Amino acid sequence: MQNSDVILTVENVSKVYEGEGYSVNALNNVSFNLLRGEFVAVMGTSGSGKSTLLNILGALDAPSTGSIKLNGHVTKEMFLEPMASYYRRENIGFIFQSFNLLKDLSVEENIALPLILKGENKEIISSKVSEIIELMGLTNWKSHRPVQLSGGQQQRVAIGRAIITAPPIVLADELTGNLDFNTSNDILQVLVNMKERFNQSMLVVTHDPNVATYADRVLFFHDGEIVDEYRCNQKKDMDEIITKFKRIMEKQYT
Ligand SMILES: Nc1ncnc2c1ncn2[C@@H]1O[C@H](COP(=O)(O)OP(=O)(O)O)[C@@H](O)[C@H]1O
Ligand SMILES: [Mg+2]
Repeated sequence: MQNSDVILTVENVSKVYEGEGYSVNALNNVSFNLLRGEFVAVMGTSGSGKSTLLNILGALDAPSTGSIKLNGHVTKEMFLEPMASYYRRENIGFIFQSFNLLKDLSVEENIALPLILKGENKEIISSKVSEIIELMGLTNWKSHRPVQLSGGQQQRVAIGRAIITAPPIVLADELTGNLDFNTSNDILQVLVNMKERFNQSMLVVTHDPNVATYADRVLFFHDGEIVDEYRCNQKKDMDEIITKFKRIMEKQYT
């Protein structure tokens, strides 16, 4: 059954890393849907396969078995170049914990990068960059270089860069891991506002229950499997999320 509200369908995805003398089952038959406009938080123990999942959804790595459907369609070569780059450019915005900003470029130039890579013309780039800079509250810092900015400001630049092409899917790994509580909340609110404005889907890996309270749904991972799920009904679902997360940390899923 395919629902038009579903943007990504993850079907029986498994990932085995194999090398000389080892074989790791990083993901084991993972299936779930990501809806249009949905914010999903992924929580789990260390080594439970969260980053592996993010890499596969972003076509940075291929599953060993199983498939990913975008808008109900499987693209056979999705994980092979040049299709993988095309898929990423058209559909995905990545936000990494380490920001990955280019240190020799200004804030404006860092944010403009995806549009430059897409070959957009100068007028469009200039107007979109101005819009994002304003939205992210970076007007006074637009000519600064990353080292001249605080962690929160750098993360705003990274988010601006991830969303400037208005990608339908935003993937983030510990996006607030380096930030204090207030900055983290500010950034999450900006992301939720963006999501509501553009009906984007977001999948955010986090170990922080506070981050998870911003999500519509939380998926709990342990040993490469989804072992629990929580639908947030209201903003203050923290206790329930913490309880479920603790259960996983204490390895009560075997
Ligand atoms: N490139 C790799 N080669 C071999 N094993 C890997 C590789 N990447 C991850 N793993 C292993 O796969 C499992 C899942 O890793 P990962 O997805 O990074 O977990 P998480 O992000 O939840 O901490 C871990 O056991 C990890 O050691
Ligand atoms: Mg990880």
